[in-house]
Amino acid sequence: MIIIIGDNKDIHSNRVANKLKNLKEDFCFLDTRFYPENVLINWYPDNTELGYIKIKNKKILLKDIKSIYWRNYFGIKYEQIENNNYMSEITYKERKSALTGLFYSLKTNWFNSIEAFEIHQKKAYALHLMKKNNIRIPRTLITNDKNSIEDFFEINNGEIIVKPVQGGAYTEKLSKKTLTKERLNSLKQIPAQFQEYIDGIDIRVYAFKKDIFAVKINSNTIDFREDKSAELTKIELPQKVINDCYKVMDILKLKYSGIDIRLNKRGEYVFIEANPAPMFIYAEKVTKYPLTESLINLLINNA
Ligand SMILES: Nc1ncnc2c1ncn2[C@@H]1O[C@H](COP(=O)(O)OP(=O)(O)OP(=O)(O)O)[C@@H](O)[C@H]1O
Ligand SMILES: [Mg+2]
Repeated sequence: MIIIIGDNKDIHSNRVANKLKNLKEDFCFLDTRFYPENVLINWYPDNTELGYIKIKNKKILLKDIKSIYWRNYFGIKYEQIENNNYMSEITYKERKSALTGLFYSLKTNWFNSIEAFEIHQKKAYALHLMKKNNIRIPRTLITNDKNSIEDFFEINNGEIIVKPVQGGAYTEKLSKKTLTKERLNSLKQIPAQFQEYIDGIDIRVYAFKKDIFAVKINSNTIDFREDKSAELTKIELPQKVINDCYKVMDILKLKYSGIDIRLNKRGEYVFIEANPAPMFIYAEKVTKYPLTESLINLLINNA
């Protein structure tokens, strides 16, 4: 049995589900929005072999779960219970603890694990781990102190970008002109992530354990996802960069990943981030790299 965390409205989950169906592999979607009503869990922390999970009345023994494709985790439902904030909070926490405790305990082949996702959500920590392991990353400042930006500008010769600390919005290049008072004041409400601007080209690496597929992205915007005419071409990476990709995956507990790198004008490969549930369909279509096949191979054979 293979579990897909997500739903079939997502094209990646759907693609994986269809392939598994063609290969006559048993699979089931686990959509956490239906937990607890239609997702029942029953497990023993001292012996996960005995437990089960029931998804819309389909009973899946935990010991039969071969692997898990974690694509979209919809979180845990928060419900207001009888106008009682305390009870609502407790209910939410108990639901979450029961399910995530299972995710941590269940020893199966996770692509990727809850630990990997939790590290990814703390992007600053992921960068910290990378740097500690001698991976080249952009000089980075996380702050809600507007008075520190001026100095950071200077250190980086006036070339910096800003992006969210956790993700979810485009990267933007900053100049003295765009760094307005309102912008700086907004730091009072939400901290932001500032980085040295890496002038160069984007590289996206799809890594499935030791299998590496790299593409170069030629784009006219800072964040290539804003550029509908961005061009993707296959490239080969130097062995040192491939080894760094393996290292990054190891540090961030990733068994497969979409790794964002920028190659700067001095020929340095600067690691931006490593995603635990990357999109790959568009890159596969353009490059013909066997990305779906590689993922399916991991899910079925763990190889
Ligand atoms: N320091 C930088 N210098 C130049 N370009 C950058 C820098 N940081 C990010 N970018 C560009 O912006 C893109 C998006 O940034 P990043 O990968 O850090 O976050 P994200 O993909 O938005 O995060 P998420 O997908 O988790 O929301 C990068 O792929 C790169 O093209
Ligand atoms: Mg990215």
